[in-house]
Amino acid sequence: MAPNVLVTGSAGQIGAELVPRLRSLYGKDNVVAAVHASPRDPSVSDGPMVVLDTGDQAAVVAALKEYKVDTVYHLAALLSAKGEKDPQLAWTVNMDGLRNVLEASRTNGVSQVFWPSSIGAFGPDAPKTNTPQNAPLNPTTMYGVTKVAGELLCNYYHAKYGLDVRCLRYPGLISSVALPGGGTTDYAVEIFYEAVRTGSYTCFLREDTVLPMMYMPDALKATVQLMEAPAPKVPRHLGYNLAAFSFSAGELASEVAKLVPGFKVTYSPDSRQKIADSWPQSIDDKEARRDWGWEPEYDLARMVADMLAKLRLRREGKGV
Ligand code: SER
Repeated sequence: MAPNVLVTGSAGQIGAELVPRLRSLYGKDNVVAAVHASPRDPSVSDGPMVVLDTGDQAAVVAALKEYKVDTVYHLAALLSAKGEKDPQLAWTVNMDGLRNVLEASRTNGVSQVFWPSSIGAFGPDAPKTNTPQNAPLNPTTMYGVTKVAGELLCNYYHAKYGLDVRCLRYPGLISSVALPGGGTTDYAVEIFYEAVRTGSYTCFLREDTVLPMMYMPDALKATVQLMEAPAPKVPRHLGYNLAAFSFSAGELASEVAKLVPGFKVTYSPDSRQKIADSWPQSIDDKEARRDWGWEPEYDLARMVADMLAKLRLRREGKGV
């Protein structure tokens, strides 16, 4: 039987694509898109929608009851750069929201919860390359602090209450539907929009900055694969390391320039450089591969070609 799903943060970078994917898998009426405010982009409005503040536990309980929800994807969160501008707000949104969702879930018959962690859970003392699953988690951003605390809270709810919470440490995500907004890896999305729009881009990270990244179709695939895996294949309820490819800002610019002749990138690092420098450059995801069969499909060249094709089609008014 198809699950009854609620997705918070549905108008966000992941939600805007995960909701349509889940609706195609489980049926439109079985996936409720929860948004913080009525979205301008109607990408999730072709099925049930609810305006929901995850900071309000009673409202979360009401939504779970109204739609008889048994599975929650809790995506509503602030990203790293925005979190450094307002650390108090980052704590409130990221931690109160998660606690409310977990508590409302366990007391209202929800059987499965998905929650996104991040490469931002790591700090400067973790090995920079092939960062292992069990590397130290000592982040220096409030975003990272909420990711580490959040992973521990998810694990606690599993251990104490048996709630089946599953969790991925996403790399920076590159996508063409909704803009990320407020992250440190946002440059790798903005660069495509500017390449297609103006043919030039000013990057807020140094040219040699290497970060782990992933194309959204792979992120959706990993999320669904993790959630559909039989319970014995998911022994870990802290975040799974997840990887696809890594590149420097300069390498991405060169790859885009291959398909956008004359594309010019200049580099003007801002406060986000410090955040990027505190994160891993590549991730060892062998536990995800071993436990539930994770394998990415897109490499850098394929992702770049697909992003440019999608954005060009949209510019020509053909939609994507
Ligand atoms: N994409 C996120 C950010 O840059 C990292 O998980 O904040």
